Parts: sequence; C-alpha cells; structure tokens
Amino acid sequence: SSPRQQQRRVRDTNESSAASKGSAAALGYTRDRFLSALLPRSSRRAPLIHRLPCPARLRRCLVPQGAGGRAGSISLVFSAQILSLGAGFDSLYFRLKELGLLGCTVVYEVDFPDVVRRKAALIEGNGELARLVGGTAGEKSVMSLAGEDYKLLGVDLSDLSRLEESLKQAGLDPEAPTLLLAEVVLTYMENSRSDALIQWAASSFSRAQFVLYEQIHPEDPFGRVMLQHFSRRNSRLHSLSCYPDCQAQRSRFLQRGWEECSVLDMNEFYSRYISADEHHRIQTLEPFDEYEEWHLKCSHYFILAASKGEELARTPVFTKLPSEEWINPAPQVAGIISASACSVDAETAGLRRYGHRSALIKPHMILTTGGFGEHDGQHRRLHELHLLIKHQGMWRAGSVHLEEPGDTWGMSWDGRLFHTMTCLSGNQALVMGGRTSPVNPALRMLQLRFAESRQISAMGRAAVVELAVLRHVENPTGPRWRHTATEVRHQGQMFLFIYGGRSAVQPVLGDWHFLHLEELSCVQIPVEGPLPVGRHSHSACSWDGGVLLAGGLGAAEQPVGSVLFLRPTERGFRWQTVETQPSLLPRYSHTAHVHDGKLLLVGGVWLHSPSVPGVTVIDLATGLCLEYQIDTVSLEWPLMLHNHSSVFLPDEKELLLVGGGGNCFSFGTHFNQRPVCLDLGSILAGH
Ligand SMILES: C[S@@+](CC[C@H](N)C(=O)[O-])C[C@H]1O[C@@H](n2cnc3c(N)ncnc32)[C@H](O)[C@@H]1O
Ligand SMILES: *[C@@H]1O[C@H](CO)[C@@H](O)[C@H](O)[C@H]1NC(C)=O
Ligand SMILES: *[C@@H]1O[C@H](CO)[C@@H](O)[C@H](O)[C@H]1NC(C)=O
Repeated sequence: SSPRQQQRRVRDTNESSAASKGSAAALGYTRDRFLSALLPRSSRRAPLIHRLPCPARLRRCLVPQGAGGRAGSISLVFSAQILSLGAGFDSLYFRLKELGLLGCTVVYEVDFPDVVRRKAALIEGNGELARLVGGTAGEKSVMSLAGEDYKLLGVDLSDLSRLEESLKQAGLDPEAPTLLLAEVVLTYMENSRSDALIQWAASSFSRAQFVLYEQIHPEDPFGRVMLQHFSRRNSRLHSLSCYPDCQAQRSRFLQRGWEECSVLDMNEFYSRYISADEHHRIQTLEPFDEYEEWHLKCSHYFILAASKGEELARTPVFTKLPSEEWINPAPQVAGIISASACSVDAETAGLRRYGHRSALIKPHMILTTGGFGEHDGQHRRLHELHLLIKHQGMWRAGSVHLEEPGDTWGMSWDGRLFHTMTCLSGNQALVMGGRTSPVNPALRMLQLRFAESRQISAMGRAAVVELAVLRHVENPTGPRWRHTATEVRHQGQMFLFIYGGRSAVQPVLGDWHFLHLEELSCVQIPVEGPLPVGRHSHSACSWDGGVLLAGGLGAAEQPVGSVLFLRPTERGFRWQTVETQPSLLPRYSHTAHVHDGKLLLVGGVWLHSPSVPGVTVIDLATGLCLEYQIDTVSLEWPLMLHNHSSVFLPDEKELLLVGGGGNCFSFGTHFNQRPVCLDLGSILAGH
C-alpha cells in the first residue's frame, strides 16, 4: 500500500482512543464530560476497554493537587506548557480548564491537519467547549484554532522543521517548563522519525518531561496477535521492532538527551499507582470476568516518563520507583519443551474454543464440554460436545449422544463455561458450576454417565459414546465458577472437594465444601490449619488422599503464588503450605496434573512478561520448582495457554493441550488452531 494510504489509516486511529475513553467516562470509570461533545458517535464498549484508559487515570495523577486528592503518587512539577503530540480528539485541555487546574499553562495540540481541522470545527460549533476556550485569536495559517491558552496545530510530526516553526509561531517558549505527551502516536511513525522527534524535544526544551504511552512485547503470543491486527489494518506499529521492552525504551530516551527516565508496564503501573479503594471502585462498576485478557493487555502497554533540566530531572515522575527495580522479574528457565501439533485424523475445528473443560473419560477418550468458540463462522457459547478417541496412535473424532430423561435439555449442552467436569469412578462425571454470562451462573449440577463405547469403523467415526445425563440437581455448594472440584476420600467414603471460584456477587470465594458423592449433599468435615486466601482460576489435583491447590487470582485481582496441600488427618484434613525452591511465580488460569510425585502446572497467566508460563514441575518430595518454556516454532500460529484445557496421558508421558485462547483486547479473538502435544518424557525422567 502507498504511503498515502498508510497515512490515512494512521489518521483513522484519531477517534479510537477517545471513543474508548468516552465510553468509560459514561459509565463512571473516569470523569470526562467533554469527550461526548468531541465525538460524533458514542457507543458502549466492552468492560475491559473501560478499565483501560489508563492514561486517562494517569492524567488524573498528573494533576495531583486538585484531582480529589487521590493520586499524589506521581509528581509533576508545574509546567507552563503542555504539548500533546498526536492528540486526536483527546479532551485533556477542557477537563483541566473546567477544574481550574490549568493556571497559566498553555496547551498545544498537534495532529494531522485534517484531524485538527475537524476538532476545531467541533469545538467552534459547541457552545460550552467554545466558551472554555474563550475568544479565539492569532495566526490562523498554522493553527486551526487559537485561544489564549489553547492552540491546535495541524502539522505532520515527521516534519520537524515545520513542527518547530509552527510551534514557535504559536508562541511556544522553549525555555519554559514543558510537559510533552504522546499517547499511542510515536509507534505509528517510522522509527528514524520518532527517534528524531525524541531527540529534537530533548534538545529544544531546557526543562521538560516527556510522557509516552504505547505498546511493547511483540514476541509473545498476545504480542503476535496484536502486531498482526495492526499490520492487517495497514497501520503498522513501528516502535516494537527496535524497542520491544521497557528497558529498550528507557535506553532510547537516555541516549537521546533525556537525563532521567522511568518505565513501567501497565500491570506494574496498576499495582503501584492505583489505590486499593480506586481498584475496588472500578471492580464494582460493571460485571467483569475478563481477567486474563486484562492482564495480558496491560503487560503489552507501558508508560514512560523522561525528564531533563535542573529541577525536573531531580524530581522523578514516578515517585518511589527505583529506576532499575522491576517488580515482576523474568523467571529462570530450566529447559525447553517442544510443542507439536498432535496427529489428529479428524475435524478439530470444534476444539477451537476457550473456557471449556476437557477430561480423559476413559484411557484413550477425551470429552470436551462447554466454552466459547467458533461455530458455522460465528463466535458463540458452544453447545456441541466433542469427543477425541485415540486409535492406533492417531486421535480421531468420535461422537457423543447425549440422552436425557425428561425434555428440558434435548441433545445439547446448556451453554455453560468455566464449570468443572470431574471424572469419577464408575464411568461417571460430575459437572458443577460455571456460568453463561457473568451475571448468570449455572445453578444445577449435572451427573453424567458414559455408556460403553462401540467401535464403528476404523475409517470414519471411531466410536460413539452414549452420554446419559442421569440427574440435574440443585448445587448445594452455591453458584460459582472458576472454582475447582477434586475427588477425596474420607473414612472410606468418596467426596468432591469444592474450593474457591467466584460468583455473580463475590469477586473471590474462599469457602469449601465436601460433597458426598453418593448422596450429592454436603457434609461437614473438620479442617484445621491456617485459612488459605480466597481465590479463583487456581488449580487443584487429588494427591496422597488429599488435594493440592496451586496459584489462582486473589481478591485484589493479584495472582497468587502459593502451593497448598489439604492433607488428610485422622479426624479430617489440615491445610499445609508446600514450600518450593525457588518459590512459585504467581499465576492463574493454568491447568495442573500430578504424576509420580510431581505437580505439573501448565500455562496460565502471570505478570512476568515477556515470557508466558510454559510447564512448571514441582517435585513434591524435595520442593524443587523448575520452569520450562514451550518452544512453539513448529506451530504456525501463536499458542495461547489460558482458558485452555490439558489432559495428561500417563503412559505416553504426554500432555495434550486442548483449545484455549480468547479475546485479545480489541485486536480480535484468537483460538488455538489444533490440539498440541507436549512430550514430557525427558523432564519427568530426570531429577
Ligand atoms: C491512536 S490515536 C491517539 C490519540 C490521542 N493521543 C488519544 O490518546 O486519545 C493516534 C493519533 O496520532 C495522530 N498521528 C499519528 N501520526 C502522526 C503524525 N506523523 N503527525 C501528526 N499526528 C499523527 C493520528 O492522527 C491520531 O489522531
Ligand atoms: C478519524 O477516524 C475516522 C475513522 O475512525 C475517519 O473516518 C475520519 O476520517 C478520521 N478523521 C480525520 C480527520 O482523518
Ligand atoms: C477467557 O475466557 C473468558 C470468558 O469467555 C473471557 O472473558 C476472557 O477474556 C478469556 N481470556 C482471554 C485472554 O481472552
């Protein structure tokens, strides 16, 4: 495509961030009455996008003195000038002006001439906005709008001499303290151009701060989907090729004349600068269940603050932040496991789903239920059950006949996801919990029974499983999802240990129940020891008569790093911490298996970008905890290991990864294309 077309696509990003911010403001995430006036269309966006206008939140921090006393964590020395680069339809000026926070500060906004002209027309046509700007005056040739303290300039940021000249004509004073802002702008420029702009700013202003917000980490699965999205839309993100992480961005500024520079990814920003109160307030604004997507998105955006000039360089923008200390250090990697697409002689499109559950219902038979996925070209909650059967070393599709007494259910699944499906002895499984939407939990348990499979032909369908729904029963443990359900034995009887999860009203549950498997009712069994913190999206496995819990997402939406053992005692059970060496990196939304005295944790989400969790092996006798990365070069698509299922095949010492993926912010939905095999033979043999 031609440079002109590319420029048009970049210009077309003018409204996108403003629209998200506007929608967030409409729902109370931030305060901004002005965006709706600046935006022609307003439409409600997804909850995840509402949490996102981090920069909008940052702005609140940038003006700590007046903004309700909330921030104070980011200090900004008084600036006489704000220069917003690629400002689009941002409303910063109007908010500051209305709150009386602008003082004598003059705001300069630069964007492409077309964008700026449209913004100027909107402002002039809106009584309130025009009143805030006040009388317009000044040289109209460079400026589309010139109020006393607000100047709109239509200049291509790649053209530095023109930029400098226009700013000078507009009255910008290079000696006055200046705040420069660039929010998802520089990355659309060729690197040589944006580098030059950064250098120009350092050499032009004697006292300045530069705040940059844009994307990082192109290399991991989410990053690959993100890049693909932008290149398909012909608005390439250039910065990531040269500056893939926070360190690289920091050096970029330090090498171009800036004296101090701090960088944080947005996960770090959130945990350091958003107060627990504000966090809680945000959590209660809308039903929200997109944690994985949220954390992944935040690990792919950073905020940088560089400064120069006497008092500015001495006042770090991010207080309390030692410049080189990362709160989420990269993990030590013990080895690499290669992933390969499984030999599947079957249509596996039905496994392109996430939030489902897959379980080994017989030695070579995997049943998958629920989740969200692709069906007939549409994305929806899936009602189709899927069966994989291994026959002569090859996985084939089987079919499931669901029979149900009564008429309420017909032949399909009720659409729940984030449920548990626990295989029990006697060809049975119990499906518990789950939800359709975050305000609609599934209320009943399903007791499933598998009839003997029949081999039909070696060619076509490998087998049919008759799946009978024996009972639909009220769930005595209360509605929940993202919980675990694990078989345990107590005094010769079998129970299901239900732990944690969340519900429509409780963002995190910390309770547990023992469900008697024959009676399907709850029984009190004494449990001693320290109470574990509530969590959801953790893992649980049966082991040694008890249950091993690992990870999860805790109350403040912070990943948990503990491994706990619910150890059987004479009277009941006792919670006990499993000490590991080194300690487990906090994570959630992983899957887990126990084999031969080792706990295997597979995938999940953690905040240690750029690497994503692979397979962690914890030796339960010694506590040794080893991280293995997954090498996916043989796969042609990014492998996303969250919202997935995994099945461990003990004879083959192989892990089968089924489904997984999900929404990648506004970059599209990603489904893992096919089941993937991980050969764990070598890592399970050693030690
Ligand atoms: C994604 S938008 C961000 C808008 C605004 N900073 C915000 O956060 O709401 C990117 C903006 O940068 C502008 N932009 C990109 N490249 C530019 C260039 N070379 N010169 C001027 N403006 C540019 C685009 O026109 C667009 O308005
Ligand atoms: C801003 O972006 C929209 C698409 O989001 C586009 O239709 C419009 O032309 C752009 N405005 C300008 C002035 O380029
Ligand atoms: C995991 O699934 C849930 C439920 O559909 C979804 O909200 C969440 O965004 C998914 N995670 C990702 C990363 O897409």
